Order: sequence, then structure tokens, then C-alpha cells
Amino acid sequence: MSQEIHRTHSAEAADDAGAEATRRPADEAESSRASRGWWDRNADEYQSDHGGFLGDDRFVWGPEGLDEAEAALLGPADGLAGLDVLEIGAGAAQCSRWLASRGARPVALDLSHRQLQHALRIGGDVPLVEADAGRLPFRDGSFDLACSAYGAVPFVADPVRVFREVRRVLRSGGRWVFSVTHPIRWAFPDEPGPEGLSVAASYFDRVPYVEQDESGTAVYVEHHRTLGDRVRDVVAGGFRLVDLVEPEWPAWNDQEWGGWSPLRGNLIPGTAIFVCERD
Ligand SMILES: C[S@@+](CC[C@H](N)C(=O)[O-])C[C@H]1O[C@@H](n2cnc3c(N)ncnc32)[C@H](O)[C@@H]1O
Repeated sequence: MSQEIHRTHSAEAADDAGAEATRRPADEAESSRASRGWWDRNADEYQSDHGGFLGDDRFVWGPEGLDEAEAALLGPADGLAGLDVLEIGAGAAQCSRWLASRGARPVALDLSHRQLQHALRIGGDVPLVEADAGRLPFRDGSFDLACSAYGAVPFVADPVRVFREVRRVLRSGGRWVFSVTHPIRWAFPDEPGPEGLSVAASYFDRVPYVEQDESGTAVYVEHHRTLGDRVRDVVAGGFRLVDLVEPEWPAWNDQEWGGWSPLRGNLIPGTAIFVCERD
């Protein structure tokens, strides 16, 4: 991985052998295909590396460790009972398990079969759905809340399509809260040490980060949107932005997660959480 061509994703240490990192366009179909393959191949390593930090039934918004039990971005924890909640890009459904423990009725959706197998391994009775966030297999107005901790949104070519789908399946006034890599991180090398503190690329370069095999087929894709792009996408998706949370690195957290580290976390934001409401 060169200094110029770097990624910001949260499952860092599993480059496909021989894959070449580049910046080039990648459409919706190619991005979705690459994500499914990558997460199926790397789910075991992701869960083994990060499952302890995530906890089996905690709701952690990102590598800083911000916990929904304290942040209450979905609303007061004692108000979750009886609500229908859709978790998008749920991985092993840790967040959904926490929601269920608060009396909510979560559904955990993910594109990756292997991630959902980890959800089964951990257990619980959260319904699991294997599907693409851009085509949600639910009736209109099925949920009171939707959430996503780094799931799907950073990996899709057309986030507005996802947001419109989320809007469709939410009931009137429903909240949609999602976290992504903070857009500013795209200007820096994805390194936890001091080399990750110097600007190495244009923040304004929206060309996707792609890892491709020898035949040029994408095996991993991540899409960059600036902060302004994300706000405009939220609005275009039919939502009102209620809050934009940039979690600070807490003193208790001494764990690195790929390019996220105490050193960088104390200086620049690593995660952006968008709190939105359906108009
Ligand atoms: C960084 S992981 C986050 C998983 C989980 N939310 C967590 O905090 O551990 C990203 C997840 O998004 C899923 N994903 C990627 N693209 C997706 C898409 N288009 N539709 C649904 N899920 C997707 C991946 O399969 C993966 O499980």
C-alpha cells in the first residue's frame, strides 16, 4: 500500500494476496460484488481481531468505542422497548443483540453470508437477513428506527439509493443513524503512527479506492464522500440531519484498529455519525 493510495476501512489487515491498490471508478454492481466476496473471505479474521472489542451484545459506533448505551443517539435506551429496528451491515449482529436486550425488535441485515454465520455462532434470536442495503426486502413502513455502525454506507457507489430505501422502510418520523469513516481521513495515509498525520492525498478526490486482482476485477471497494457530500446525500435521501457526532478518543481506549489509534484519535476525528430523521 503506497502513501498515495490508501484506504480507510475498518478491516485493515486482510489484503487479498496479490491484489493491487488503485483509485478508479467502480459502479454499484461491481462495488456490491466486491463487498460480498471480500467480507465473506475476511469475516473470520474481522471477528477474531475485533469481536472482543465489539463485545457480543454491545452497540459500539466505531473504533473510538463510543457506546450507544451512553450516547443514546437512537433515543433514550429505556424508550427502545417494543420498537422495530433495522440494523444495516450488521456483521455478526452485536448491535442488534444489544437492542434486543433493551426490549427492541431488531432485524440484522448484511450482504455477507459469512458475517451472518458469525451472528449464528454467537447466538441469540435476532432475525438475520442476507441482502444488499440498496434493495431492502421489506414492506414500506416496517421499522421505527434504522441504524448502521460502519455497515454498507462506506462501501456503496450510490448512498442516496440506500438512504431512499431506508426512508421507504421507515415509519413517519423514524430515525436513521449511521457511522462511517470520518471523511477527513481520506486525505491521510491509513497508518496508526506518525506517518498517518501528514496529508498525502486530496480530500476532494472522490475517485473510489479499489483493490483489484490480476484480471482487473475489483476485490475490495470503498467510496469517499466529503462531509458536504454526505449532508447532501442525507437530504436527497429524504432525511433531515439532526446531529453530526464526531466522537473524541477516550482516555480509556489504548487499542489500535487499523489506522485508528490513540495518537491520531487525539488529533483528528476518525468517525462521523449522522443522526437523521425521516421527513
Ligand atoms: C466494517 S463491517 C461492520 C459490521 C458491524 N456493523 C460492526 O460494527 O462490526 C461492514 C459490514 O457491512 C457489510 N456490507 C458491505 N456492503 C454492504 C451492502 N451493500 N449491503 C449490506 N451490507 C453490506 C459487510 O458485509 C460488513 O459486514
